[in-house]
Amino acid sequence: MGQSVSGGLMIVDRFLFETLAHRLRTGFDRALDGAPAWAVKTDRTGGFFLRARPEAVLSDEDVRHFVDALRAWSFDRLGLARVSRPVLDLHAAGARTPVASSGSSGRLVYQYFLTREGAPAAGGGTVLGNEVVDPLFNRLAVFDSRAAHGVAPLEGSPVPAEGRLALTGTIRESGPSLTGSLTLDQAWPGLEPVLRRFFAENQAVVRGHDGLLVVQCRIGPDGRVVDWTVKFDRVVGDGEAWKQALARLEAGFRAATFAAAAGETELVLPLSFGLVPAEEEEAGEEAASGGFGGDRAVLSRMAEVRPRDARLLNSIVSAALRVGDLETAADFAARHALLARGSDKVRGETDPLALAQDHYLTPLKIKHDTEQFRHLRRHGRGGPELDEVLAAYERTLERCAGRGPDERIPVAEVEEETVRAVDGRILYLRPTPRVPGAALSDRWDKREVEDGYLDHSLGIMVIDDFLSPDAWRELLAFCQDSTVWFANRYRNGRLGAFFGEGFNCPLLVQIAEEIRDAFPRVIGRKHPLAQMWGYKYSPVHSSVAPHADFAAVNVNFWITPDEANLDPGQGGLIIYDREAPPEWEFDDYNKNRGRRITTFISETGAKSIEIPYRANRAVIFNSDLFHATAKCHFGERYEDRRMNVTMLYGRRGEAG
Ligand SMILES: [Fe+2]
Repeated sequence: MGQSVSGGLMIVDRFLFETLAHRLRTGFDRALDGAPAWAVKTDRTGGFFLRARPEAVLSDEDVRHFVDALRAWSFDRLGLARVSRPVLDLHAAGARTPVASSGSSGRLVYQYFLTREGAPAAGGGTVLGNEVVDPLFNRLAVFDSRAAHGVAPLEGSPVPAEGRLALTGTIRESGPSLTGSLTLDQAWPGLEPVLRRFFAENQAVVRGHDGLLVVQCRIGPDGRVVDWTVKFDRVVGDGEAWKQALARLEAGFRAATFAAAAGETELVLPLSFGLVPAEEEEAGEEAASGGFGGDRAVLSRMAEVRPRDARLLNSIVSAALRVGDLETAADFAARHALLARGSDKVRGETDPLALAQDHYLTPLKIKHDTEQFRHLRRHGRGGPELDEVLAAYERTLERCAGRGPDERIPVAEVEEETVRAVDGRILYLRPTPRVPGAALSDRWDKREVEDGYLDHSLGIMVIDDFLSPDAWRELLAFCQDSTVWFANRYRNGRLGAFFGEGFNCPLLVQIAEEIRDAFPRVIGRKHPLAQMWGYKYSPVHSSVAPHADFAAVNVNFWITPDEANLDPGQGGLIIYDREAPPEWEFDDYNKNRGRRITTFISETGAKSIEIPYRANRAVIFNSDLFHATAKCHFGERYEDRRMNVTMLYGRRGEAG
């Protein structure tokens, strides 16, 4: 999609008041001397430049003013109210960012330039298709994140003060917004039939188009639409069909009857098109807009009208998690899983969305799935139709002999039609309700554990007998039975299962709630659950590269019985006594690209603590600490595979 999308470039010169723009620039100049805040960024294309968190370099308040100004502009001009926190990118001579599609999950990219006034303009422009945007001081450039873009090489002096300096981030939509007399509750009965009818009657157009539309309409006191405009249209597809659909949408609005009110109401409504699977929220991204509670209610209503919009469902999950509403998050995560991963074998979704074109299997993933189907049939689960699936997987596994264990096999190239049809789909989801009473065991004292965490110099706590026997047994069965282990991009056949993709059941929600409430000072309401996942390992697994996570507190627990662990001193977690530097970003602290983390750990002389594997043991630790799964050797049976559950609470930088 990337290459064919034009940039939709918008440029605003003299974007901020001169005084604020100059204050931002001066902050940078003043910070240049020390410059410990900068990290070298590299990307897949071999580009490199410097990046910092703006608040490590500039005044926090100035950056906030910038974001406020940008959000006001963006909502006023485009109807888009969510602006991500920026990063500060510096390209000096020699740095480069080749043109590529970022595949960014934001709708629009913004770049606000703070390049020194009068700096020699030799290169450093933003390249977007045939256009080059000079990175002039106090200039704002905004463009479609799907369009390929890069930075032209800079020539001349490699002095940072002469380089291209930009605050960069993304802009996207939030829910509908109303100003004036009507509230959303009052406007909804008028709006709902318009949307429902439009999406029902324009299925083909809706499915064949991708992107975001924002419409704005003015509703008079008598409830009639006085004025209707398209505020923003970045929908890509067949131009003529789209124009006609827009005309029908306008006609629908103009024929609608809203509630009568004392005065006029202005409605700004973002509508997303395209049934591509939802993009995952960038870890660590934060929208600057407040009022997520309101967002959530609005988004839920939108989902009634757009039940097949995966992006919308994911946005609701995120919004609900941010405000600590686990029930709503779990409800919409389940809806998303059925829409994105469902099959006719599980209730509720017989027409799931297509999977990404490039999904692939590996011999180790095929082996896992084969063993899992065998396990399910052995226990009489999943129905006899699984027999046919199992046979197809067994044949496929045989054909893999001689291939590397992690070799990626595009699913389209798999011979067995049954495998092609069911790969990536939920075929069995074990019903796993809450357990009566508590899911956390009464064998440990919550207050004592929390005190221990707070007293620990690094923030690490180990709890044995973590779950009650009932909860542990049920969770183990959920993880063994449910065919939700879709993420297979890791080495050594490690598999991941995620909240929005089926790793979700009432018991997991119960555990997440009880953990939150057990540690009111460490987690509590201030650090809502941000993400949960499970990992499952191959019997013999080398250690995983050290990394830190994006949360404030990491709760990690092991559920495979001890009998399966053939090397009882091993298989646990290694935690280093070093936190990821605050200015490092997600890719820096989570991925050991260029062995940066490993180098940091050895150069700083970090010491490690090894916590051995033990069934039903939890390790709670500060997410900023570098950590790694130790090498492990577990039994060969399907049920012996090492499994852990991770629950991440809060956001990075908020620990303590
Ligand atoms: Fe981790």
